[in-house]
Amino acid sequence: MFKVAVMVSGGGTNLQAIIDKVENGYIKDADICAVISSSRKAFALERAANHNIPGEAVVKKDYASTEEFNEALLETIDKYSPDLIVLAGYLVIVPQIVIKKYANKIINIHPSLIPSFCGDGFYGLKVHEAVLARGCKVTGATVHFVDEGTDTGPIIAQKAVYVEEGDTPEILQRRVMEQAEWNILPDAIRSLAEKHNNR
Ligand code: GRF
Repeated sequence: MFKVAVMVSGGGTNLQAIIDKVENGYIKDADICAVISSSRKAFALERAANHNIPGEAVVKKDYASTEEFNEALLETIDKYSPDLIVLAGYLVIVPQIVIKKYANKIINIHPSLIPSFCGDGFYGLKVHEAVLARGCKVTGATVHFVDEGTDTGPIIAQKAVYVEEGDTPEILQRRVMEQAEWNILPDAIRSLAEKHNNR
C-alpha cells in the first residue's frame, strides 16, 4: 500500500481531488495516511475528517523557535511513515531536515508553468496576478519534486490553460485549478503509486 501524507494550509481543493480519485479507484493501492496542516482553521482538515483521514495541525507560532517547529513537523510526519509527501497548497517553508529525510519523496503543485512565475513570493493569487499583469495568453500548473530550493526540483508534469478575455486573478486561479491542478496532481500520485507497488 502506497502511503501518502498531504500537507495543506487552506481550502484543500487539491486534497479533495486526491481523496476523490483514491476513493473511486483511479489512484490504486494508495492510502492517504494523514493530512497535516499549517493552520488549525484550514478547511482541508474538515475535508480529511469528512473522509475519516487522520488530520492534525502543526502551527509554527506554537513553537518558541523555528528549529523546534521543524523538529515537531518532522516528528509528526514520521509518525505516519509516508512513502510520499504531497504539498497541496502548503504555504510554510518545508524544513531542510524534512527535505533531506524524504529526499525524492516530496512533490508540490505550483499554479504556473515553471520556470515562469515561480520562486520566492509566487504563491496563490499572486501567481495569477503576475500572469495577467504580463499579458500572458497561456498559463497552467506544474507538479514537481521538491528539493532544497523553491519550486526548483525536477518537473514531473505540466498542463497548459488558456488565459481568457476579462479574466480576473480569481477566475484564472479557478480555471487553472479545475483544468490543470486537480488533474495533474492525482495523475502524478497515481503513477508514483504504480511505480512503488510494482517495484
Ligand atoms: C492552489 O492554487 C495551488 O496551486 C497552490 O495553492 C492553492 C491551494 O489550493 N499551491 P487548495 O488548498 O488545494 O484549494
